[in-house]
Amino acid sequence: MLSGAVEGEKMRVSVVGTGYVGLTVACFAKFGHDVTLLGRDRKKIGMINSGRSPIYEPGLDEILKLGVDSGKIKATDDYNVVKKSDVVFICVGTPSNEDGSIDLSQIKTSSTQIAEQLKTAGHFIVVVVKSTVVPKTTACVVKPILEEISGKKCGADFGLSMNPEFLKEGTGVEDFIHPDKIVLGVFDEKSYKILEKLYSCLDSKIPRVRTDPTTAEMIKYVQNSALASRVSFINEMANICEKFSVDVNDVAYAIGLDSRIGPKFLKAGPGFGGSCFPKDVKALLSAARTVGENPSMLETILDVNARQPRRLVDMAERAVGGLKNKSIAVLGLAFKANTDDMRESPAIIVIKDLLGRGAKVRAYDPKAMENAKEIFSDSIEYAKNKEECLRDADVCIITTEWDEFRNILPYVKCPIVDGRRIINPEEARNRGITYMGIGWKDNG
Ligand code: UDX
Repeated sequence: MLSGAVEGEKMRVSVVGTGYVGLTVACFAKFGHDVTLLGRDRKKIGMINSGRSPIYEPGLDEILKLGVDSGKIKATDDYNVVKKSDVVFICVGTPSNEDGSIDLSQIKTSSTQIAEQLKTAGHFIVVVVKSTVVPKTTACVVKPILEEISGKKCGADFGLSMNPEFLKEGTGVEDFIHPDKIVLGVFDEKSYKILEKLYSCLDSKIPRVRTDPTTAEMIKYVQNSALASRVSFINEMANICEKFSVDVNDVAYAIGLDSRIGPKFLKAGPGFGGSCFPKDVKALLSAARTVGENPSMLETILDVNARQPRRLVDMAERAVGGLKNKSIAVLGLAFKANTDDMRESPAIIVIKDLLGRGAKVRAYDPKAMENAKEIFSDSIEYAKNKEECLRDADVCIITTEWDEFRNILPYVKCPIVDGRRIINPEEARNRGITYMGIGWKDNG
């Protein structure tokens, strides 16, 4: 029998980190497991304990509210809960350093604090690294810290695993409950069995990939680099399509019908952003260099992505013949729709470039206004809604594909630069509006 994890028994899960990943791990409570979130920020702890999510993510408030009301979810800053857990997830941030490598300081601190608890734990606890970390981090950074400080042996006295997440912001809860796969990188059989049991609450048809921790770490980076490369690839194709008067969407649709290619992640736009793709491609590039590799494809993915947002500004400039003192309505600030997240958002580059070329910017986003104010303070104007944003604008640039921007035409009197291809160009032109779009065949 597995210590602390009997067949059919609900398990005790603790989660270090109350960010996006940690909060979605709380979904285990939906299946009856007891989840304790460990954080440092008292405000966030208070919010979680009152059943509210500190971040905007569809479905998360409901999960937290139900979990807190039924006593299945709580938050604390007291590491003692680790000792009372069967599984402890490390879900702390691994931000980029200046040189693109990742900063492991939070991984080291949380491993140290967990190790202090392992010292006096009376049962086998599995520590799971869920944060995105470069290959060998679990084996060469986390494992030695846990063993040295606890004085215990990995695999015999406690377990260790690397279990990457593949959640997309905006559908994180759904992705947690119905993932395409569950990757479990383990050193020992007992840890695997315990995690298999924990995840047995999810559909048994979901493939479980058993591997070693370093391969699990690599899987995460290679997957995100592959997806980012598709986005940069279709963006580059979009730019070529424009010059040959071809609509990239027609091309993407047709190539996506080939079963070897498939239809997803072929939407041309202003470039990828968010907390994962830019950071992960940079981190893999940097890690590859430390082992003597020089991955030029990864470099190119980032180069294409850095140039893409500026194309929207070039189009706006073409539309009005110079941007100095022109009023630009920027619709969309979040890096994609259905999130308030502005990390690495292409809208940031678009706005900075507009300001650099002397334009005046008025911006609107349904969810990201507060985040935008922290970035731009009073260098731009903030509109209360899309109508106000568009009023008296010289050009409108669409940077995020929010549904509510699809029906803006009745409010628009200026040229539109459609970075997300959400407006019908024919309808715009029928209304006498100049339309330009990423990968559109008739940008003029
Ligand atoms: C991504 C991964 O998908 C997820 O598996 C990982 O765990 C975290 O990183 P996320 O950053 O939430 O998730 O967003 P995603 O939906 O993957 O989009 C990433 C970026 O690519 C966005 O800026 C999006 O606008 C852009 N994108 C995506 C495109 O421009 N075109 C596409 O076809 C798809």
